[in-house]
Amino acid sequence: MCGIVGIVSSRDVVGVLVNGLKMLEYRGYDSAGIAAVNGGEILIERNIGKIANLEDLLAKHPISGNTGIAHTRWATHGVPSVNNAHPHTDQSSVVCLVHNGIIENYQVLKDKLIAEGIAFQSETDTEVISQLIGFYLKNGTGFEEAVRQACCDLEGSYALAVLSKNETGKIVAVRNQTPLCIGLGKDENFVASDITAFLEHTKEVIYLNDGEIAVVTRDDVKFRTVKDGNELDKQAVHISWDVEEAQKAGYPHYMLKEINQQPLILVDVLRGRFRVGEDELEMPDVEEFVTPDIDHINIVACGTSWHASLVGKFIIEAIARVHVSVDYASEFRYRSPMVDDNSITLAITQSGETADTLAAVRMVQDLGRKTMSICNVVGSSITRHCGLNLYTQAGPEISVASTKAFTSQLATIYLLAIKIGIMRGVLDDSLFQHYLRELRALPRKLTSVLENVEELKRWAKYFQKKQNFLFLGRGVNYPVALEGALKLKEISYIHAEGYPAGEMKHGPIALIDDEFPTVIVAPASATFDKVKANLEEILARDGDVLVITNQPDEFRRYTPFIFTIPEVDELFSPILTTAPLQLFAYYTALRRGCHIDQPRNLAKSVVVE
Ligand code: F6R
Repeated sequence: MCGIVGIVSSRDVVGVLVNGLKMLEYRGYDSAGIAAVNGGEILIERNIGKIANLEDLLAKHPISGNTGIAHTRWATHGVPSVNNAHPHTDQSSVVCLVHNGIIENYQVLKDKLIAEGIAFQSETDTEVISQLIGFYLKNGTGFEEAVRQACCDLEGSYALAVLSKNETGKIVAVRNQTPLCIGLGKDENFVASDITAFLEHTKEVIYLNDGEIAVVTRDDVKFRTVKDGNELDKQAVHISWDVEEAQKAGYPHYMLKEINQQPLILVDVLRGRFRVGEDELEMPDVEEFVTPDIDHINIVACGTSWHASLVGKFIIEAIARVHVSVDYASEFRYRSPMVDDNSITLAITQSGETADTLAAVRMVQDLGRKTMSICNVVGSSITRHCGLNLYTQAGPEISVASTKAFTSQLATIYLLAIKIGIMRGVLDDSLFQHYLRELRALPRKLTSVLENVEELKRWAKYFQKKQNFLFLGRGVNYPVALEGALKLKEISYIHAEGYPAGEMKHGPIALIDDEFPTVIVAPASATFDKVKANLEEILARDGDVLVITNQPDEFRRYTPFIFTIPEVDELFSPILTTAPLQLFAYYTALRRGCHIDQPRNLAKSVVVE
């Protein structure tokens, strides 16, 4: 996600800020910017691309100052561009700020400010905050109070660092649902989204909680609540991590960090489409682009995104009652696919750069048919070719093996299916409320799955030396079996095959013996008894069986290897059944001493055919 660093010091802070941004590079970004206060003026430089581009700009237009803020932006509202890069100012250039997070009610606030005669310079949700603070300042409110009042108007998530040209030597920082911390240095203090940005200068840290403001000066930091401005007393903690440990938030690998980010990502995906406390699914972009007479969705994707697409077929057909076909993008582009008038081709892609998926999208575009994407990277090549892009809000995925992108893709597919179902009039209110309850319960249920790792560590210890694995699932959990097999082979180099359980008798059963274990994904479902019958067939051939289920008692007499997930409607189970398979692959690869974040022979983005 985006990164924030700010410093109030007695030395020139520009070089320190640029170094701080470099420490945040691992988070991924598409533009960077910096602001320093000097002689009662705010000096700003911003550029797209890497921090090196910002440094080139600073070499040509040097700026300096003792107080400054800087930012790396990962686009969410508005493409990566100089205008959209942070810092953003108010109309009179009195205040300037950097922001991480998403302002849900930005359009309402923007409309109000435009009505007051304020002209916006960017497409971002962030600029609403700087303009709002400027608006309160103009009405005679003081700097800190103007920030506080503006925050009271905001809905959504935000970490902010704000400068004022009228109060040099001060940064006002605010946190709501997006991390922000204060570093206490010698003759200087820091603000950052992540301690790595200042770890080389200080290890004394105060973490802000949601709804707290910090007023940071060179020698002092004062804390207040956003709601009523009451003073707070907060204690510093000493951090013993080095920079690399801190970038992984203490996790030994990015993959494990990303697996554990999934519950929060689910919250973010839902938050982006439901206003706080309301049950209305806000997808005006979908309403505009997808007409209710749509009769076919062709999904094209590769790898893990293809598995998400297969799950998507079950979800969309069940909820929206639209026919869905799913193709490997690499196959689709080389046949003569039927792309009808009333169809939409949906590209599902984490990176937005996968060569085959891009080629498939271009092909449909050339046929003059509609294309849309579910993508994690704003402004990526595929999104530039699609008529509609639904962004997955997962933040940069650094581990080569995809985990959190898959979960965010599924969450987005649920929302899309529900919206199309409503538009087509096939979803009554009680079903809508049921789907909403299932969706809203997923972050909590996923958290409980991720807390239960000991059983998966035991599986990894017991089975680490095996050379082959079979993964079985049925219905919406058949693609989950494919994904479990892919994760295991990618990072542990164990041969693994995924199959729909009903297909086992048609061939794969020949492989089963006491050296060939099978993972069965079997939550309660319409085909539950049939999957149990598969299990008996495997046991009869001396195969070990590992089960992911929410019906553990049904399996206790067959196997000691049972991972229990919470109760869930079968249609919403894949997010909960996939997470243990991600962790099983992770702990198996760990035991086998594999290079988890960068497995051999694999690249994060496959931009060539
Ligand atoms: C597997 C993995 C790959 C990608 C595939 C598509 O862990 O990461 O299989 O899913 O290369 O990439 P995107 O989604 O970027 O199009």
